[in-house]
Amino acid sequence: MSPESAVALPDQAMAPRPWRIRARHAEIASDEVFSWTLEPEADSGTDADSNTPPAPGQFNMLYLPGVGEVPISVSAITDDGGIVHTTRAVGSVTRAMQDLGPGAVVGLRGPFGTAWPLEQARGRDLVLVAGGIGLAPLRPVIHAALERRADFGRVVVCYGARSPGDMIFRDELEAWGAHDDLDLRITVDRGTAAWRGDVGVVTQLVDRGGFDRRNTLAMTCGPEVMMRFTAAALERRGLKPEDIYVSMERNMRCAVGFCGHCQIGSQFVCRDGPVFPYPVMEPAFRIREL
Ligand SMILES: Cc1cc2nc3c(=O)[nH]c(=O)nc-3n(C[C@H](O)[C@H](O)[C@H](O)COP(=O)(O)OP(=O)(O)OC[C@H]3O[C@@H](n4cnc5c(N)ncnc54)[C@H](O)[C@@H]3O)c2cc1C
Ligand code: FES
Repeated sequence: MSPESAVALPDQAMAPRPWRIRARHAEIASDEVFSWTLEPEADSGTDADSNTPPAPGQFNMLYLPGVGEVPISVSAITDDGGIVHTTRAVGSVTRAMQDLGPGAVVGLRGPFGTAWPLEQARGRDLVLVAGGIGLAPLRPVIHAALERRADFGRVVVCYGARSPGDMIFRDELEAWGAHDDLDLRITVDRGTAAWRGDVGVVTQLVDRGGFDRRNTLAMTCGPEVMMRFTAAALERRGLKPEDIYVSMERNMRCAVGFCGHCQIGSQFVCRDGPVFPYPVMEPAFRIREL
């Protein structure tokens, strides 16, 4: 390839910048899910004031030198510009991340990807349906909805976890549950002797309704099979498919639409997603193991 024909990659997007772990919090007793609060290193060329804050739904690429790089959604933004990421340790990079705590420095590039359509939800009921770690990318939406409560109609949050011990953000769940103007519904796949709540799939929480089918925007994040059944349940309640948004996961390399690793049909999850209107992804949901 001649130098002229080489594709110019945007430096900023491709070069990880150093961010320091300010705080680490185990989200579940086994520590398999943990949250980091990250702040830019003083010499990173990034400061929290000038850095573009991520929008709810966007993700960063987190880089561990010598190990690898993974896409992780933003699960909160602190008042002073710190970024919170919540990660489940499943493989080589995320397990190595699990060992790092306050003071460690990691590489970060981003934010990337599309955001949840919060502005489109203004003046409408908002239904959020999360499965497992899928609550992490939706948490900034809950924060925004509570901050700007008057902008939305009813706010319904449906959360499904494997068991009571697998529930993340436990303190916040308790706080959200105490809000009069937020309808928090939780279910688990397997209860315990002490569990007094719902047991079963998260779609049964959607089936309860309690939102205006003609004026609701829904956002869902979790395993694909769960999002597919959630979309079907929302459609049964009368929502139009175009009022349902899903967040997709695919292995990524470049995160900026160059390498094709994250492609689903004609869509690049890193660039065109991860948040998509449901009708765009619905054909992919019908193909197993795409
Ligand atoms: C846009 C986007 C946002 C994401 N946000 C988050 C987030 O906020 N928090 C988070 O924890 N993860 C998130 N993920 C998933 C995360 O990127 C992967 O879990 C991670 O890349 C796995 O890398 P690894 O090297 O640790 O595992 P690998 O070594 O690549 O995988 C090891 C094994 O784990 C399996 N595996 C891989 N990914 C998953 C998974 N997601 N769940 C279960 N098993 C898996 C693989 O099939 C393989 O068998 C996101 C992914 C995308 C695309
Ligand atoms: S990760 Fe390279 S195109 Fe999406």
